[in-house]
Amino acid sequence: MTDILAQLEAKRDLARLGGGQKRIDNQHSKGKLTARERIHLLLDENSFEEWDMFVEHRCHDFGMEEARVPGDGVVTGYGTIAGRPAFVYSQDFTVLGGSLSETHAAKICKIMDQAIKTGIPLIGLNDSGGARIQGGVASLGGYAEVFQRNVLASGVVPQISLVMGPCAGGAVYSPAITDFIFMVEGSSYMFVTGPDVVKTVTHEDLTAEELGGAKMHSCISGVAHGAFANDVEMLMQTRALMSYLPMSSREDAPSVPCHDPIDRPSVVLDQIIPDNPNTPYDMRQVILQIVDNAEFFEIHRDFAANIIVGFGRVDGQSVGVVANQPMVLAGCLDINASRKAARFARFCDAFNIPILTLVDVPGFMPGLAQETGGIISQGAKLLYAYAEATVPKVTVITRKAYGGAYDVMASKHLRGDVNYAWPSAEIAVMGPEGAARIIFRDAAADPDQLTAKTNEYREKFANPFVAASRGYLDDIIMPRNTRRRIARALVMLADKELKNPPRKHDNLPL
Ligand code: HXC
Repeated sequence: MTDILAQLEAKRDLARLGGGQKRIDNQHSKGKLTARERIHLLLDENSFEEWDMFVEHRCHDFGMEEARVPGDGVVTGYGTIAGRPAFVYSQDFTVLGGSLSETHAAKICKIMDQAIKTGIPLIGLNDSGGARIQGGVASLGGYAEVFQRNVLASGVVPQISLVMGPCAGGAVYSPAITDFIFMVEGSSYMFVTGPDVVKTVTHEDLTAEELGGAKMHSCISGVAHGAFANDVEMLMQTRALMSYLPMSSREDAPSVPCHDPIDRPSVVLDQIIPDNPNTPYDMRQVILQIVDNAEFFEIHRDFAANIIVGFGRVDGQSVGVVANQPMVLAGCLDINASRKAARFARFCDAFNIPILTLVDVPGFMPGLAQETGGIISQGAKLLYAYAEATVPKVTVITRKAYGGAYDVMASKHLRGDVNYAWPSAEIAVMGPEGAARIIFRDAAADPDQLTAKTNEYREKFANPFVAASRGYLDDIIMPRNTRRRIARALVMLADKELKNPPRKHDNLPL
């Protein structure tokens, strides 16, 4: 018996060594942690239960018999994050470049199936050279098996992809289906085809960083929801994100004890709206006044900054915040802002997280670039996301709510549950200047007359009272009381029940 125990330990040690010390050192020299070190940091201490440590590939071609490493280049299993369970896979770049074989894929699929059955989130740590070349079509099949499960798990359990090294070719499509993608600056990249192929096909001479680095994807393409300086920071931030999420769509969003009083007055909010309606202010400051302890986990911070999305808590209750940002493009809704907010709102709705919407929007972004880019169908995504959402929806209009953007931003007409406005709200079909030019066309030639008509329009429409008189707003509130009013609304809405009509599935304008 002692022999067998010793043998087991020896086998475990071999598996833990992955591709060997030299390759581990090489991994470290690139500023990257190993697959196991990453799991160790992500999960609570000693909570990891590893599965399939002894799985080996079954390939016999190209000398692969000699290249068998127990575990086959991916560490899989489950553990806890702040005491709550999570399934994890972590690709081991030291074993054949973390490349995905049939058996490597089967290990990932096994935990994905279990995550779906048990209602436990899935976190994938990606660091891989892609499909294992020696495995041929079996490797490709392995990827498709993973994609299929990503799709089945979508909206059932939260799925998070941490891209911590190469992620190229078809391999990018597993993260792309998941709810959040985080990347490490300088050591991770994602692209469908690498720089060499790009150079041959389009003659563009680009580095991997330019083509698919963390900066590009978190600022420009929006593929990544966040970029972090190194592995450790990313893993710590992932733990923070998990604290806002339920385990699955079967659970309510988490609520934690709150020590920040809900009736803490935010006098600063009474002063935050500038006298000139065209002067911007920082909506992030409004969010920080509302959420518990000024803690806000922002998603897509550097992408489409004209809208802010992220998670916070109000009186301990997790909420998803969507807020126009007047500091960037005056808070206009453009293609990227619409896509960003729509995806976020749909995530919140899928996982029972109430949506708090803060509105200061002059309208949809005009122009040829937006129209040719399809602002019509892209903007419709956000409208669709709000209209289909059945979670509690609380909306506060702080200043502008003009045109279609008024409708879209969780208005009463899209089943907003509680709709408030500050006294500074301006709710109308369009801004006073533009409106006066159209409806008083004759006066437009005379600047004095135009100013008089503009003021007349502003007086009549650029305020919250018209909407309130129709019941489109439930109340006009003092800015300083916003946190308390939202907290109470969320308590009132805690047991909200609303269902959409039965159907096979909807047809979101993709
Ligand atoms: C088998 C691979 C591999 C792969 C890397 N390795 N990628 N083995 N299949 N796909 C092995 C290398 O042979 C090497 O083994 C070790 O991993 C480390 O690789 P290096 O090249 O030394 O590392 P580095 O210089 O850091 O370069 C990393 C890399 C490069 C950029 C990822 O390895 C690379 O370009 N790999 C091929 C990428 C690729 O084209 N994959 C297929 C994509 S198509 P040793 O023994 O020397 O340590 C795809 C289709 C999916 O994935 C389709 C789904 C629908």
